[in-house]
Amino acid sequence: MVDKRNGNSPLSEQPLLEVRDLRTYFFTRRGTVKAIDGVSFRVNCGEIRGVVGESGCGKSMTAMSILQLVDKPGKIVSGEILFKGEDLVKKSRREMSRLRGKQISVIFQEPRSSLNPVFKVGNQLREVLHIHEELKREQEQKKAVSQLREVGIPDPERRMDNYPHEMSGGMAQRVMIAMGMACAPDLLIADEPTTALDVTIQAQVLDLIRSLRDDHNMTVLLITHDMGVVAEMTDNVTVMYAGTTVEEASTEVLFAEPLHPYTQGLIASIPVMGEVKERLDVIPGTVPNLIDMPPGCRFAPRCRARIEFGLEKCMVEEPPMFEVKPNHFARCWLYEGGGDEA
Ligand SMILES: Nc1ncnc2c1ncn2[C@@H]1O[C@H](COP(=O)(O)OP(=O)(O)OP(=O)(O)O)[C@@H](O)[C@H]1O
Ligand SMILES: [Mg+2]
Repeated sequence: MVDKRNGNSPLSEQPLLEVRDLRTYFFTRRGTVKAIDGVSFRVNCGEIRGVVGESGCGKSMTAMSILQLVDKPGKIVSGEILFKGEDLVKKSRREMSRLRGKQISVIFQEPRSSLNPVFKVGNQLREVLHIHEELKREQEQKKAVSQLREVGIPDPERRMDNYPHEMSGGMAQRVMIAMGMACAPDLLIADEPTTALDVTIQAQVLDLIRSLRDDHNMTVLLITHDMGVVAEMTDNVTVMYAGTTVEEASTEVLFAEPLHPYTQGLIASIPVMGEVKERLDVIPGTVPNLIDMPPGCRFAPRCRARIEFGLEKCMVEEPPMFEVKPNHFARCWLYEGGGDEA
């Protein structure tokens, strides 16, 4: 595993994307849902950065915030999202729609819901090429076919004439990736790209994403709830819990030495092949209500370490991110004094 973040290249100093203290709230009749409430991370050029956490912790909302696609009653209330040094939060709708698909592409969990069912996939792919590049008709057709070939679709000429429902989930996801890649984006955001697919197809699609990164030096923000996918695919990881980032490290370090009790729980709950456990070592308890967030650390009510060490502060004051070791951050009072406040 290569940790590009610790490399000496000048690129490692200027992240492609930097999310700074992002807050995205939903103003509902029942109250304010603080879906994202203090998320910060950097994505360096050429890395695959994982964002991992349980369902509802705000992974997709983070992606939607970066893309400026948060719908009402949701709104980004504070924070910065710097892409190549420019704040996306301040961009106009027009500027953002130009960026999306050209410099930043996104693929979602359910490929068929993102494809238009009434158009042939070839036409949809050509449409994407058409928006961003001025090509002649034949060139467009040729490029679309070669794009389908690159993502491993057999017999691409024939597949151009398929409607989405005529394709398997894996093939449809390949088409989505081809569409996302069509304009050679700098950043690909993949939100659970393989969750809806069979296990073997999952592995193939993940391999494809990795080879696109390797061949085109594309940067990938890979959102998943699956620690196995994180281990297989990513260089660095950001762990989220209840709308905040709780730990950040290189993937190697995170698995070798997880600091946050939540991350420790996530890792302990990975099923080990061939090992029969009496019961999966899941983290007991549930994610807190995002409307009435209790004071203190969001994880405190479920935290074994809090109980074991009898830390009272955890229920009262929210911890900051501590840089416990170089480039290894954890939002946990256990590390107060053990590291610098980030
Ligand atoms: N339209 C909405 N109105 C109110 N709250 C919302 C709305 N959309 C999302 N949320 C809140 O935002 C939180 C984060 O949702 P998000 O979809 O980002 O979670 P996630 O981490 O992607 O989960 P999953 O793994 O299930 O995809 C949810 O817990 C939900 O309460
Ligand atoms: Mg999601």
